Amino acid sequence: ANNNETSSQRMTEICELLQSTIGYYDWVGFYFANEAARTLHLKAFAGEPTDHTVIPFGKGICGQVAESNENFIVADVKAQNNYIACSMYVKAEIVIPLFKDGKNIGQIDIDSHTENPFAPEDERFLEWVNEQVAKIL
Ligand code: SME
Repeated sequence: ANNNETSSQRMTEICELLQSTIGYYDWVGFYFANEAARTLHLKAFAGEPTDHTVIPFGKGICGQVAESNENFIVADVKAQNNYIACSMYVKAEIVIPLFKDGKNIGQIDIDSHTENPFAPEDERFLEWVNEQVAKIL
């Protein structure tokens, strides 16, 4: 615990495992908040590199979850007006906040090339993943 390099490596392994084993998880990443700057920072990911490694609170799906503390499932990204496109292939997205000691400190973000793929089971599963990650931070 409390070793940043080790926790980043473990988060990268989790991203790679999820992205390679779940067919409709095409990009998986963890963003963490800088509360003072009100920005999210990409700490680990699997999939195509993204230009959006820093996202202001309130911007895009990720930035909205930083402020709402709520799960956000987007069945069709084209129907969203506050959305940051990372890849032209992305059709859907799920963002689940990550809580440490009750505080929203970051999130797992998953992009899918499949139409409307995310179900409540994904929410429960990813909430559990985030609980496990919180323990190594
Ligand atoms: N689509 C996200 C930006 C991050 S990329 O998906 C990796 C958003 O709207 O916040």
